[in-house]
Amino acid sequence: MSELRLEELSAATIVAVNNMSLKPGQEQYLAPVSYGIAATVVNPQTSWQRVVLDGDEVVGYVSANFDIETPVEHFQSVLWRINVDADDQGRGVGRFAVAKLLEEARSRGMDHVDVLYEAGEEGPQAFFERVGFTTVGETEYGEVIAEIRL
Ligand SMILES: CC(C)(COP(=O)(O)OP(=O)(O)OC[C@H]1O[C@@H](n2cnc3c(N)ncnc32)[C@H](O)[C@@H]1OP(=O)(O)O)[C@@H](O)C(=O)NCCC(=O)NCCS
Repeated sequence: MSELRLEELSAATIVAVNNMSLKPGQEQYLAPVSYGIAATVVNPQTSWQRVVLDGDEVVGYVSANFDIETPVEHFQSVLWRINVDADDQGRGVGRFAVAKLLEEARSRGMDHVDVLYEAGEEGPQAFFERVGFTTVGETEYGEVIAEIRL
């Protein structure tokens, strides 16, 4: 693997992001890319979206929202979506993307990053726990709320 790097989502990479594949059973855990893009259009200051590149190849995507004014704490500094191309899973791309997200959150003065996800087989729970998120609650819809304190 050559060195991973992060880039802003752009016209050049968005098609590749949309074409990234998932492993069987993973689709149900993932929010559409268009949600993140809609968020950026609605509020470009608070929305953050990046692609992970390995050389010239798009191998991952991560999006977040940072808005201390949001009344609900677990939406103030929140990882919205992360996904890694099926062929590139399990070699540190997701961990890299989370590390970069934490860097960004720190640089914006946030003291935590939350994530909401659904528990279940093929789901991302083991990954989120492995990279440092701790369960702190549950939403009214039954999703896990997990957090990293910075
Ligand atoms: C979740 C996801 C982003 C993880 O990305 P990844 O690049 O495969 O993860 P990494 O290789 O960086 O793994 C980081 C750590 O988590 C562990 N991990 C990752 N997936 C795991 C799994 N399914 N079960 C157990 N451990 C897992 C790895 O073993 C690794 O541990 P280590 O660094 O201590 O050795 C990827 O599987 C994915 O795109 N899933 C589908 C989309 C999704 O569910 N997104 C989350 C909701 S938005």
